[in-house]
Amino acid sequence: MILHNSLDFAQQLDKQDPLAPYRNEFIFPKVNGKEVIYFVGNSLGLQPKSAKKYVDEVMADWANFAVEGHFYAEKPWWDYQERFAEPLSKIVGAKPSEVAVMNTLTVNLHLLMVSFYRPTASRYKIICEEKAFPSDQYLLQSQVTHHGFSPQDAIIEIKRREGEHNIRLEDVLAKIDEVGDELALVMIGGVNYYTGQVFDMKTITQKGHSVGAKVGWDLAHAAGNIKLELHNWDVDFAAWCSYKYMNSGPGNVSGIFIHEKHHNSDLPRFAGWYGHNKERRFLMEPQFDPVKGAEGWQISNLPILSLAPYLASVDMFDKIGMDALIQKRDKITTYLAFVLKEISKEIEGNFEIITPSNPEERGCQISVFLHGEGKELFHYLMKNAVITDWREPNVIRLAPVPLYCSYQDIYQFGQILKQGILSHRK
Ligand SMILES: Cc1ncc(COP(=O)(O)O)c(C=O)c1O
Repeated sequence: MILHNSLDFAQQLDKQDPLAPYRNEFIFPKVNGKEVIYFVGNSLGLQPKSAKKYVDEVMADWANFAVEGHFYAEKPWWDYQERFAEPLSKIVGAKPSEVAVMNTLTVNLHLLMVSFYRPTASRYKIICEEKAFPSDQYLLQSQVTHHGFSPQDAIIEIKRREGEHNIRLEDVLAKIDEVGDELALVMIGGVNYYTGQVFDMKTITQKGHSVGAKVGWDLAHAAGNIKLELHNWDVDFAAWCSYKYMNSGPGNVSGIFIHEKHHNSDLPRFAGWYGHNKERRFLMEPQFDPVKGAEGWQISNLPILSLAPYLASVDMFDKIGMDALIQKRDKITTYLAFVLKEISKEIEGNFEIITPSNPEERGCQISVFLHGEGKELFHYLMKNAVITDWREPNVIRLAPVPLYCSYQDIYQFGQILKQGILSHRK
């Protein structure tokens, strides 16, 4: 399709967009009375209007039933979390028994490493990507230290090549071969938070297994964004947060995946009563008998008020399906990259997109160096109701989330960006 950087063309695309009605299901903040153009759903997704209804329902049940709500609420609390298994398994490409919701992301990665990082004197190294999200770096450093190893020795980062922004698959695979028998775990962000690069999780997982390592993924920027087939890819474990593309609310609950091949294993885990055999959970038995499945890794009873908005969002994803989302995501992300290039030409700017251009290697994020621009441009955008994410010195991260962003948003963003740059040149 030939693309045009015009309002008319963007509006035509919106008219043809089957997901356009979903925009109205979300609440957009306003700046100076104007609804914002929201490009930071990769940080915190917008609030779905239905979230309040789900939360209100729990509040009403709490008021009306108090403790009895565990069994007599509209959606009883004791098994509230089970409502996630079906829809969430479709989002991440798993069997329902392979997913659970609990805790928060970094906490879950720590708990999963209790089971899947079992270092020995000779096999103790972890491969991760260079400049992983800081929480993951601290997580890995503290885990290896906890086991008596030094981070400098035990953590192997895969570097970008000189002058390149993205990590090459061949370099990941070569590093796995090189570390070989010493490799205990590969743990990488499925989508890099900074560049938006999507890793080939299937190939990397296979390779990790071929040298005898376990392979786990931090899917913070992947869940609800890209096509995942965790079961078929034979991934050992994964975890994600729900507040980015899954619109569940600030700091909200994380999801986990544990491949069914591990469900009957004797992997060690930190246990609690909500991982105990469901039929016998309230018998208060002394001996832990885990549920066979990811739920067997649950520890505490679940925070129902936090799960409620997540369930609202997961129900919406279930209605739409990942395939429809991905179709629009590719189209709108391509349009954004096009508009950026057009604006760069028009103003003789120097924009450098650092996200891979191959749609297979990117999701819903374009990261771009606005060479020659400074943070005043970010403030200009904010004042003009465009919310973006700015990283020093001048990288802007833009996520045109297909659920609620429109093609017209992209066109208008281009115009505001152009005005902002021109006005700062004067
Ligand atoms: C890639 C990645 N990993 C981990 C985290 C940390 O998540 P949490 O604070 O929910 O543990 C984030 C948060 O944005 C992230 O982007």
